[in-house]
Amino acid sequence: MATIEVDVSAIEEGMSITAKWRGKPIFIRNRTAQEIEEARATPLTDLKDPIARNENLLADAPATSADRSGGEGRENWIVMIGSCTHLGCVPLGQSGDFGGWFCPCHGSHYDTAGRIRSGPAPTNLPIPTFSFISDTTIRIG
Ligand code: FES
Repeated sequence: MATIEVDVSAIEEGMSITAKWRGKPIFIRNRTAQEIEEARATPLTDLKDPIARNENLLADAPATSADRSGGEGRENWIVMIGSCTHLGCVPLGQSGDFGGWFCPCHGSHYDTAGRIRSGPAPTNLPIPTFSFISDTTIRIG
């Protein structure tokens, strides 16, 4: 299916789900205030990949917490393709050295904004085209 709609009303703060879109896992996470704060506090100069990799923004948008998220007023929401940018394994959520995702295949650590922080993966987890069509429904694709 080219487009899917996901009801996120049951995803409480700190929780996440994995949807499926075009045969790929899509991670949807409702970040806590602390997770957002950690992501905001990280200088872009500390990032291995300072580009947002967000299909909804310009190609050179920076990988700020806001630009990696659902945007203004929805910075708590993270929507990403769950495919490690090293060799495509599915990273594990709520794990790793940076509180985000950890890829067990070769040890890539992603932070609470899905940005690569250590390990062999070259780029941040990609963000697909998505939008909120209501306060509780995300359309992906
Ligand atoms: Fe994820 Fe290699 S596939 S670290």
